[in-house]
Amino acid sequence: MGHVILLAQQKGGAGKTTLLTQLAAERAAAGANVAILDLDPQRSTTGWFRERLARRGDGGGIALLESAEWRARSDIDKAAKSADWVFVDAPGSADTLGRIAMRAADLALIPCQPSMADVWASEATLEMARREKLAHAVVLNRVPPRGRAADEAAARLARSGAPMIDARLGQRSAFVEAFMRGAGVNELARAGKAAAEVTALARAVEALLAPR
Ligand SMILES: Nc1ncnc2c1ncn2[C@@H]1O[C@H](COP(=O)(O)OP(=O)(O)O)[C@@H](O)[C@H]1O
Ligand SMILES: [Mg+2]
Repeated sequence: MGHVILLAQQKGGAGKTTLLTQLAAERAAAGANVAILDLDPQRSTTGWFRERLARRGDGGGIALLESAEWRARSDIDKAAKSADWVFVDAPGSADTLGRIAMRAADLALIPCQPSMADVWASEATLEMARREKLAHAVVLNRVPPRGRAADEAAARLARSGAPMIDARLGQRSAFVEAFMRGAGVNELARAGKAAAEVTALARAVEALLAPR
């Protein structure tokens, strides 16, 4: 069975689609068989993949699986039977579909920007993951190159009991560019800083999934 990773965050714009697409491209580059499912009505993961198909002519090791609310659970379970990694873009709201996605996942990654508004807004998603007894961890995204905001946000989150991933993604134009091109930052600049951050994040995710 493949690993099912849910990208969850009720606050829009935190980086669900960015983390999902970058982790998918990182795993694909490592030779894994990767499936992505887009349950977010915003459909930006689908947009990224369409751009990818248009530019490359193939998914480059990633397949986008179509799903619908009424069969999301069986679609995710089926994907996990054939793919090594299944990344699911969760719907933004805490509705039934969000719960279904949480029940199908092995781990929820919760992107959060380093601001107090984002820290407070993460609580609803954290609470939902706790209630569903789903393993979860917060990833700080769009971390500015200077200042203490990210450390302060991390400290606040940790104090509220949120499991934190040490690896962070910086605020980088490479992520915006890759998003527009349907690419992974590793595919555009393999030796770049953005790619190194994604690799570190992927390592942290693997460590969380490893049996202890
Ligand atoms: N680490 C980052 N550096 C720069 N821009 C980012 C970063 N993460 C996300 N963005 C940009 O912020 C916007 C929202 O990110 P997105 O991943 O679409 O969030 P969500 O899926 O949670 O709504 C996008 O335009 C994206 O390119
Ligand atoms: Mg999105």
